[in-house]
Amino acid sequence: MKFLPILRPAAGLTSCRPSRHISHLLCLVAYLSCVTSLNIPPMTPNLRSAFSATRSSSVLGASQRAVTFDRLLLNIGEDFNPDTGTFRCRLPGAYYFAFTVGKFPKKILSVMLVKNGLEVQAMAYDGYRNHGRKMQSQNIMISLKPMDTVYLLLQENQDYAIYSNIGPYITFSGYLVYPDSTSSVGYLNNHLSPPDLHLPGCPPFTDTQYDWKRRRRIGEEPRSAFSVARTTSVLGESKGRREREALTFDVEYVNIGGHFNKTSGHFTCYFPGAYYFAFTVGKHPRRAVSVKLMTGRGEVRAMVFDEDLSRRREMQSQSLMLSLKRGDSVWLYSQQDDGFAVYSNQGRYTTFSGFLVYPDFHQYMGMDRTFP
Ligand SMILES: *[C@@H]1O[C@H](CO)[C@@H](O)[C@H](O)[C@H]1NC(C)=O
Repeated sequence: MKFLPILRPAAGLTSCRPSRHISHLLCLVAYLSCVTSLNIPPMTPNLRSAFSATRSSSVLGASQRAVTFDRLLLNIGEDFNPDTGTFRCRLPGAYYFAFTVGKFPKKILSVMLVKNGLEVQAMAYDGYRNHGRKMQSQNIMISLKPMDTVYLLLQENQDYAIYSNIGPYITFSGYLVYPDSTSSVGYLNNHLSPPDLHLPGCPPFTDTQYDWKRRRRIGEEPRSAFSVARTTSVLGESKGRREREALTFDVEYVNIGGHFNKTSGHFTCYFPGAYYFAFTVGKHPRRAVSVKLMTGRGEVRAMVFDEDLSRRREMQSQSLMLSLKRGDSVWLYSQQDDGFAVYSNQGRYTTFSGFLVYPDFHQYMGMDRTFP
């Protein structure tokens, strides 16, 4: 696959002041000639890894261990093998994985995302053994080292199955969101700056995230990402009026930048920009689920709801993007009343993730006058 640089008017160029030094003008020319996408990490084609695959048939329990795939939609970097269903990490970094599976009529659905064959990261579950078909989804961000593997593990038991048809119901995707800093810095310095084009006093022209005003490389920054899970349930109790408390978490997959506080359950925006958030919550037996994504002191942005009071467990997922300013907080609120709960156990049904997709360069690169 070939990646052509896209020349586009880049935000932030005006922060280079070519009027004072001619060398800066040369920098600007060099910079303009090779601007790719200014704000889409990872920045270079060789630091890309992404796959998306689907499966158009069911898998009955005890017939195979991993979910395999018959259609590969994309496989940038060739790190995913659809025949084994295994992603093998080549570039260390933080990866986002998402999957959706169909529930087979009269069977239980249980699919775990596992790392290196043994370490369960999160799961999709549906315990209703009724006739109907439906689907469940899960997604998390995890940190991988080279040669780490990730696949979807099935229960090897005939009570379990996953459903698909040519629809297809079963999908699995993953991509590298943030390559590890050390590897990408090394890569940029060693391979992307032809010495003959490097002007003294200028940053490497390929470095699209150089902070021209502050004369320092901001490299991989700004970066912000978190992904967390709960291993226990939370049962609501009616105790009269009180402060709405955030759902807290005990497992931290990633917390790049340290902007998520799992004790308080709050993500606090440091780098202004556009963020993606996703959460999945388990439904507790005989309780309803009502979990809201909140900002600030309690503005509801999105929610999941499931008022089925049966004794079965299942899950619900939701996602959205938000434009955040520095200091904005984002958190989950589970209805704190009798009759409501969030289910989780060691399989990690309940997860919450968020990451910076596009930083607001106008503010970040010092163009905004409020950032002197
Ligand atoms: C995280 O939240 C807890 C509880 O609100 C608080 O005590 C703690 O200071 C916070 N940690 C940081 C690093 O802000």
